[in-house]
Amino acid sequence: MKPEELVDLERGRVHMHAYTDADVFREEMRRIFYKTWVFVAHDSEIGVSGDYRTTSIGQVPVIVTRDEDGEVHVMVNRCAHRGTTVCQREKGNANFFKCEYHGWVYNNRGDLTGVSLRRGYSEGELAHSRIGLQRLPRVETYGGLVFASLDPNVGSLSDHLGLAKPYIDDWNRQTPDGVLEVQAGGSYRFEYNGNWKLQAENNTEGYHPDFLHQEAVRVQIFNSRRARAAAGKPDAPRRPTRIAAMESNGLDLGNGHNLVETPQVSVLLKKRYPAQYLDDMARAYGVEAVDSLIGPPWRLNVFPNLALGGSNVRVIQPLAANRTMVRQYFVDVPTAPEAVRALRRDQEQGFYGQAGYGGPDDVEMFERMQEGFASADADVLDPWLLFNRQLESEERTPEGALVADSTSEITQRAVYRAWYAQMSAGRERP
Ligand code: FES
Ligand SMILES: [Fe+2]
Repeated sequence: MKPEELVDLERGRVHMHAYTDADVFREEMRRIFYKTWVFVAHDSEIGVSGDYRTTSIGQVPVIVTRDEDGEVHVMVNRCAHRGTTVCQREKGNANFFKCEYHGWVYNNRGDLTGVSLRRGYSEGELAHSRIGLQRLPRVETYGGLVFASLDPNVGSLSDHLGLAKPYIDDWNRQTPDGVLEVQAGGSYRFEYNGNWKLQAENNTEGYHPDFLHQEAVRVQIFNSRRARAAAGKPDAPRRPTRIAAMESNGLDLGNGHNLVETPQVSVLLKKRYPAQYLDDMARAYGVEAVDSLIGPPWRLNVFPNLALGGSNVRVIQPLAANRTMVRQYFVDVPTAPEAVRALRRDQEQGFYGQAGYGGPDDVEMFERMQEGFASADADVLDPWLLFNRQLESEERTPEGALVADSTSEITQRAVYRAWYAQMSAGRERP
């Protein structure tokens, strides 16, 4: 199916086949994941020479390394001999990778440095300069976030990130000295039977929390009342906070990037932070800025595979039209006081993870949606999903973003505007 048959931007609708069709999935790999900038690592994960981490760009397994000169390389995790992956671990430190099948060896720049039983090959057949782990042609970093692209002609990362950059800058100002450590304590990884776009849509969706996550909020209130009772403090019953009742915006930042922000979250969080720490933040960034830095009170979706929250990084890895892996990393602030670190840990663990009260609810919804999409081939049924809430209310900001209420589905429309642009690039328009 053509992009215009799958996404109807004018009416804010998406066809179910966009989530179920194997050909659409293959096109998404070629036209989106193998064309644009894809997040591969945070600087802190490859902090010293020899550090590496493995990940994927779409369906291409890659290794991200820091070599002896401190330079970052991203190379395809695929032996030049017969295609075996040469590194299976998620993270580590090594100056070479050895393929287990026939023993070929590569350095951490991807060069082939050793071939077993070499005499079986004629002179020049294995010119080391040509054969190796293929390096990705473009690797760039912004604000500690390392991105790579398979397309040598892709525009600059800076242009691609565009209006998302100020938020990435703020993300790096969560502590007075700006030190963040991603994946401290490992990652939380899950797979679900559903399309990758379901997670991309959900990352910044402001419509569902008041409904889907009501139980999670009630449990949080119950736990805090119990903790107060245990500490001998007076009871403080409160009703669940409703996002729809707060000032809360959704923004389409262009290129598929989008954001949901709820400034009041910062105000609530500030009450729980040590006063000295807030003073240090004010000294580092100015009193005015602190309100937008604590938390921070937003979640940013960087299309196509990354979401940044205050205390986590979420990475989407598409596996098939109906199968997706998501990895979520806790973001620690190692130089901050223990009280701040503990608060962040509690928030993260309370909502996400196998024992979290909120995250698993979202994943359950993804699988229920994909179950509903199984009906997509029944031609007599209406195949369109609706993303048209408050479509008419979007307004242009002075910076050039589009803004509307966070419950308006503007952040999902942002994803599909970029999806449509990239899936139809270079094709004849209808
Ligand atoms: S497949 Fe890697 S050495 Fe043969
Ligand atoms: Fe959610």
